[in-house]
Amino acid sequence: MQKSDDLEFIDIAGKAASVSEAVRTRHSVREFDSRPVEINELRELIDDSLRSPSWKNSQPWNIHVVTGEKKASLSAKLVSLARSQDPAPDTAWAAGFPSNIKKRMFDLGMKLYGIAGIDRKDKEARDNFMVRNFEFFDAPVALFITTRCELNFYVGIDIGCYLSTLMLLARERGMSSCAQASLSSFPEVVRADLGLPEEDRLICGLSLGYPLADSPVNRYHTPRESFESLVKFY
Ligand SMILES: Cc1cc2nc3c(=O)[nH]c(=O)nc-3n(C[C@H](O)[C@H](O)[C@H](O)COP(=O)(O)O)c2cc1C
Repeated sequence: MQKSDDLEFIDIAGKAASVSEAVRTRHSVREFDSRPVEINELRELIDDSLRSPSWKNSQPWNIHVVTGEKKASLSAKLVSLARSQDPAPDTAWAAGFPSNIKKRMFDLGMKLYGIAGIDRKDKEARDNFMVRNFEFFDAPVALFITTRCELNFYVGIDIGCYLSTLMLLARERGMSSCAQASLSSFPEVVRADLGLPEEDRLICGLSLGYPLADSPVNRYHTPRESFESLVKFY
């Protein structure tokens, strides 16, 4: 671990040897190596992830795995939309956060821009950085998670649990990921491209693959609030 100013950078090469290590070293990666994920490795990872818990074992998720030419052509469509249209997700994104939480979100953007060498006044550079979401940050695997359930609080929790399980298991296999609400921006296009019916509501996407381990953006380890400020014992 290495700290400069108030930024922390960690080593993300290799596999996590325990659940605790996976939790401590997992963070979002936004620059992937072109190295593909071997198909059996990918199938095993996703199979394991399906052990994730859910409300009354409802398992309200469907996982759509997109690679190769299909990923490239879908990416091209999403990039074009991201550059020309406002997002129109199936479920409105959360808004109206308290000021302390808004500050954390603002800080994340500023730190990522700083590490990526982007001047925050340079709108074009910021837009280009945002558009990288729709290129899956060059990851070899893109996942889209849909549900056929009526959307409610617990479906959201279940899918959050699923994402967490998947991301930690990926870390155990030496892979990295980035969960992406942004990939829910244009559900009509994703449904049309993957041949999904209207009832498949697109919740979230995720980029998956091996990280470029030397990239500063990838090594940046986001901070967390202190134990004392968030946890109370009674
Ligand atoms: C539900 C969800 C949606 C997210 N959407 C995006 C996204 O669209 N683009 C992105 O770059 N990161 C996205 N992230 C990653 C968060 O920014 C990241 O998890 C957070 O800053 C904490 O950092 P860490 O994952 O590096 O620990 C998302 C994370 C979650 C859990």
